[in-house]
Amino acid sequence: MSRLNIVVGITGGIAAYKAVGVVRSLVLAGHDVHVVPTDGALRFVGRPTLEAISRNPVHVDLYEGVAEVRHVAIGQAADLIVIAPATANTIAKLAAGLADDLLGNTVLASEAPIVIAPAMHTEMWLNPATAANVATLRERGVTIVGPAVGQLTGTDSGPGRMEEPDVIVAAALARVEASARRDLAGRRVVVTAGGTREPLDPVRFLGNRSSGKQGVAIAEAARARGAQVTLIAANLEVASPGGCDIREVSTALELQAAVTEAASGADLVVMAAAVADYRPASISESKIKKQPGDDGLTLELVRNPDILAGLGHAPHDGTLLVGFAAETEADDERLLELGAGKLEAKGADLLVVNRVGWTEGFARDDNRVVILGNEGVLARAIGSKMSVAHEILDVAAPRLRETHEPG
Ligand code: PMT
Repeated sequence: MSRLNIVVGITGGIAAYKAVGVVRSLVLAGHDVHVVPTDGALRFVGRPTLEAISRNPVHVDLYEGVAEVRHVAIGQAADLIVIAPATANTIAKLAAGLADDLLGNTVLASEAPIVIAPAMHTEMWLNPATAANVATLRERGVTIVGPAVGQLTGTDSGPGRMEEPDVIVAAALARVEASARRDLAGRRVVVTAGGTREPLDPVRFLGNRSSGKQGVAIAEAARARGAQVTLIAANLEVASPGGCDIREVSTALELQAAVTEAASGADLVVMAAAVADYRPASISESKIKKQPGDDGLTLELVRNPDILAGLGHAPHDGTLLVGFAAETEADDERLLELGAGKLEAKGADLLVVNRVGWTEGFARDDNRVVILGNEGVLARAIGSKMSVAHEILDVAAPRLRETHEPG
């Protein structure tokens, strides 16, 4: 990657000390880094530290350097803006378009991709105001990295911890690469994400732990690479991405109807959703109640259609079909054997194999996958779900039908 002019905005949270690691990695990767801290950030990290690590002067004051119109010059020159940590206050200001400090002006004056790494207490992250602000930023194409789940300042823990510097740097550079790469321009891409829910009665369902993070990352990555994206969204626990046609579904049968319609004529279909193999044979119209004297309840389930296999075994000339395999198998060799079996059984063109379990695959921000084709292992990817999404698209893009070359 060529040398980029990168602005690193640092805002006032305890995670500001970790932003030094972000600056350092970007500088070591050969980029020209300009740090724009807020006043709050400088209460946590000193300006001399930031100047020494970034190897550039650090500006804070909106009214310094007026002659060189610094309040817009920094943003205009940027190839990428990374804000880490991004506090709830800064996220609210960005969503509202406020420019009451140098960082706010820099962001508003820039056309560069923006990547933010939120960091705050769990209550603040889950607050509806923050959630709405994050959704607004996402809608505008801002890439949100994290937050991770873990120990926060003090004794509490939960979602809100800033992602590690290497994850932020990888996601930020991947974002620039993706913006530069328009290899899906003119392509129509369909992605399924999330987990289906099969109702038992008006208040209960059979579901799974898929958050939708991996599928949403694929949709975002495809859109960033120029595709027109339809996202079939099954009960997402994350905000749906901006710029995509979103079709909300809940059950496997609804997902089947939506994806079958959207897949017609699509260049690429990626089935990242976790789909229930079974559903209750009947749905009670009223809440199922305990019966006096019973010591259990037996549910009768019936098979759901295998949607991917249905698409894979129907003629799908011109549509590249990418499935996933979620396996709990511990042995790597056996995991790949299971993946290869699934690739064939489902008639997919590519299969992304990931190990899942109590602490792997589902709901996390990172993933580790092996991408299989009929020839065998095509690629392995490990890292943020966004970087994995790009690896999948890197393998898929050159295999898209040639008759519809991007135009
Ligand atoms: O959403 P996250 O929290 O980010 O987690 C991501 C993930 C672990 C859910 C994702 O990476 C993943 O593995 N998705 C596929 C989950 C799954 O249903 O795997 P499976 O091995 O049971 O199914 C294989 C393939 O067949 C999948 O592409 C699935 O979408 C599809 N399928 C499965 C059952 C069914 N009845 N119809 C299907 O089309």
